[in-house]
Amino acid sequence: MDAAPDFTPLAEEAPAPHRAAVTGTLYGVGMGPGDPDYLTVRAVRVLERAHHLVHFCKAGRRGNARTIADAVVRDPAREWPLAYPYTTEIPADSPEYLAALAAFYDDAAQKLADELGAGRDVAILSEGDPFFYGSFMHLWRRLKDRFPVEVVPGVTGMSGCWTRAGTPITWGDDVLTVLPATLPAADLARRLRDTDAAVVMKLGRHLPKVRGALKEAGLLARAVYVERGTMKGEHVVMLADKPDDAAPYFSMVLIPGEGRRP
Ligand SMILES: C[S@@+](CC[C@H](N)C(=O)[O-])C[C@H]1O[C@@H](n2cnc3c(N)ncnc32)[C@H](O)[C@@H]1O
Repeated sequence: MDAAPDFTPLAEEAPAPHRAAVTGTLYGVGMGPGDPDYLTVRAVRVLERAHHLVHFCKAGRRGNARTIADAVVRDPAREWPLAYPYTTEIPADSPEYLAALAAFYDDAAQKLADELGAGRDVAILSEGDPFFYGSFMHLWRRLKDRFPVEVVPGVTGMSGCWTRAGTPITWGDDVLTVLPATLPAADLARRLRDTDAAVVMKLGRHLPKVRGALKEAGLLARAVYVERGTMKGEHVVMLADKPDDAAPYFSMVLIPGEGRRP
């Protein structure tokens, strides 16, 4: 009898009776917070083998997930950029944005379905973890009932950030709340007042609003600002000491918990 493998085989390595007959596998690959050293072994195995390496990007730019992959694979022939029709040009809750994004995901899903149907494996490179605010999820939702899927978990951006900030995020019974900075100011303040620890993501132009909500909740003195955590250009500073309100896409605010510490 064969010895059992000490890890789950990738779909294409599975013994024949368990292998999907003709279709390829859709992989959602967590690429971690930025430093390629935080890629998982399984992510690297998928990156090395998949027929297509799909990544989301702004038109004319390289996606950050693809940049992380450079440490493992430099293979332009397998690269497949998917350029968003909009990123921050119009409000994300406007009907025009929602319609354009739905058409974009429908079209991309159809093209990937053609490849999967022809037996080719497609890896979608996702910053951090694919199932945590990931664009991958919109393709996964459209394809998961038709093709074999494997999601490879990744180190999230927030855990990369609190690690680089050198601050534990939760102690004892601390409750952690994750907030998108895109919420209205009153909602941010209410939820911040009602939690022990928090992560505020998607800062961009919303940083002044977040600063105000933190002040209102009495938490500004504890807030740590992390820009490009684990990446080139990383910057960590107490938010109260940050002199301006400029914040790039890859930035977040951490409110470390102060729970039970025997
Ligand atoms: C659409 S979410 C994607 C989250 C991702 N799937 C994850 O697991 O971290 C994008 C937001 O994640 C945060 N983020 C992700 N990685 C980061 C990093 N290395 N440094 C700072 N912020 C990061 C930023 O707040 C950014 O606006």
